[in-house]
Amino acid sequence: MKQKVYIETFGCQMNVADSERAASGLRRAGYELTDSCETADVVLLNTCSVRERAERKVFTRIGEIRKSADHKQLLGVMGCVAQLEGDSIFKAAPTVDMVIGTRATDRIAGMIQRLQDGETAVMDLDERAEGEFWDTSPVERHSPYIAFVPIIEGCNKFCSFCIVPYSRGREKSRIAAEIVDEVKRLKDLGYKEIHLIGQNVNSYRPKSELGLENRPGATPFSRLLRAMAETGMQRIKFTTSFPRDFHPDIVTAIEEYPNLCDWVHLPVQSGSDRVLKAMRRGYTAADYLRRVDRIKSSSRPLSLTSDIIVGFPGETETDFQETLKLVNQCQYDSLYIFKYSRRTGTPAAQLKDEVSESEKTERFLRLESVQREAQRIVFENYVGRQLSVLAERLSTRSDSDMVGHSTCHKVVNFRGEQSLAGQVVTVQITKAKTNSLFGEQVRN
Ligand code: 5AD
Ligand code: SF4
Repeated sequence: MKQKVYIETFGCQMNVADSERAASGLRRAGYELTDSCETADVVLLNTCSVRERAERKVFTRIGEIRKSADHKQLLGVMGCVAQLEGDSIFKAAPTVDMVIGTRATDRIAGMIQRLQDGETAVMDLDERAEGEFWDTSPVERHSPYIAFVPIIEGCNKFCSFCIVPYSRGREKSRIAAEIVDEVKRLKDLGYKEIHLIGQNVNSYRPKSELGLENRPGATPFSRLLRAMAETGMQRIKFTTSFPRDFHPDIVTAIEEYPNLCDWVHLPVQSGSDRVLKAMRRGYTAADYLRRVDRIKSSSRPLSLTSDIIVGFPGETETDFQETLKLVNQCQYDSLYIFKYSRRTGTPAAQLKDEVSESEKTERFLRLESVQREAQRIVFENYVGRQLSVLAERLSTRSDSDMVGHSTCHKVVNFRGEQSLAGQVVTVQITKAKTNSLFGEQVRN
């Protein structure tokens, strides 16, 4: 009988893609993948360390999984916590059998084998080997209609607050020809939407031109977008974009190709030049707003979303006011707000001038309410418009409503049945809620 592996994923889309990739490799090696943690022979936790709370979750889960005394299951920690903590995980949680770094996803079967051959505390924090498999089998994808396609791994930016350059290493871009092949295959399999993913997709810089030949554009990323659009994939989204590398040609490409979706996620992190400098982001608020101007002046209305950290060390009330001002100016479609979380090993962890927890909470709530008001107006503007929605699943609130995302990445609810799942439908928007839209399907 085949041995069963259960994978639980925390954190970002890159982790979801890594879990899919690990599952593909394990299945090729003869394992079965299961949704049941209890009956699995091997349990893998794919972890996130971007904020302290995410990191703590893993140790809670290890405790829960190991509450029975027999410890018959093999337990592996993979992802960012694994890469950063290395063998100290074995000390902190001695019932863990494997520590699998962020670039060891294709070598897990071999690690399990070593444990079964009698080794203990098996660890792999090495780089990816040359020619390792990037491809993911469709059966392991998180959705039968939407696929995550990594185009670049790692990060070279070293923003002072961020642990990612340490957990995921330097930027490595995939060759465009390989990405084009994967997307064409996904299209043939019936996928309706792909998300090109990476810590900074627009820093895409492959070692070879392969697959970009005859694709015009000002940067390798905008050329890749055109190559993606030419595959004929119905909907193409991409995230995350880094402001400093956000070339206006990205907007031009979106204007040229309707299948490049009308959504840009461009995290600003702060509206204060002083804080941006301390964060080592490499741009000022004015630089950022110039990018936003190009996005807002696009011939296609584009949805704009962002991330902001409140309570970075030394952030004063005046700095915070600058952030409020910028948020009011940008009229974001959605905003992810985070309280600064100190990450050991990052430059910002050395900074003294900490903002108190209560101050962080207070700023978080004030920013949230400013955004809520701005967002209400942005969302009201969608009422009366028609959006193209990929129906994904029944609503959790009602069996007669379907939920999906628009090309501009809004959650849209509309009356419909489960049989619509996987179809792209046109929805006339009739009502806006705080974080979602409601409408009626338009039948052609
Ligand atoms: N504290 C709080 N938020 C953080 N992020 C990254 N590092 C930290 C940190 N140390 C946020 C940033 C980033 C998002 C993915 O997570 O806003 O854009
Ligand atoms: Fe972290 Fe900055 Fe890299 Fe984003 S760009 S992953 S915030 S270091």
